[in-house]
Amino acid sequence: MRIEILEGDITTRPVDAIVNAANSSLLGGGGVDGAIHRAAGPHLLEACREIRVTLLPGGLPVGGAVVTPGFHLPARWVIHTVGPNRHVGETDPMLLRSCFRESLRAADSLGAQSIAFPAISAGVYGWDAGEVAKAASAALDNFAEETTASSLEVVEFVLFSTPTADAFRRIFG
Ligand code: APR
Repeated sequence: MRIEILEGDITTRPVDAIVNAANSSLLGGGGVDGAIHRAAGPHLLEACREIRVTLLPGGLPVGGAVVTPGFHLPARWVIHTVGPNRHVGETDPMLLRSCFRESLRAADSLGAQSIAFPAISAGVYGWDAGEVAKAASAALDNFAEETTASSLEVVEFVLFSTPTADAFRRIFG
């Protein structure tokens, strides 16, 4: 698997799946969640509402992942995950690792060859980008160990600022 650290807008990435840093409601928000919903178009919210009515009436738990089509995005799928929110005491790095792990597993089950992650929880949810990068790195290592023949060939981290990208470069080398 090739890992790439990029600076830019994740909604423009021509990959099979992009990961959304959502909230448990799955009904949209600000930050990257808002950007993805704007770029995907209204069908994305309709798909999320359908998931809430059928599969996840209580919402998506922190650390979980669920898939929708990408609609107007270049990406074929959106993998929605909910990062831990430091402001409400969700400070366990294992919750962050779960976001990355469950998203990788979802992408692999789709047969995706490429996936792009934002810096989950590094915005509104108040986590330090370096901590997020460490959790991502650990999750990737575990995924590589547990998954012998994954379809995934490229994992992108698409960061919205140079400081965040530098934090990831320090961890990923
Ligand atoms: N492309 C890539 N990264 C982006 C983009 C974008 N278009 N927009 C924002 N980001 C970055 C932020 O700069 C931050 O580094 O994504 C990272 C995650 O920040 P948030 O989007 O605030 O996500 P998070 O910290 O996980 O908080 C989630 O915020 O938007 C709401 O509905 C969302 O309630 C949820 C909460």
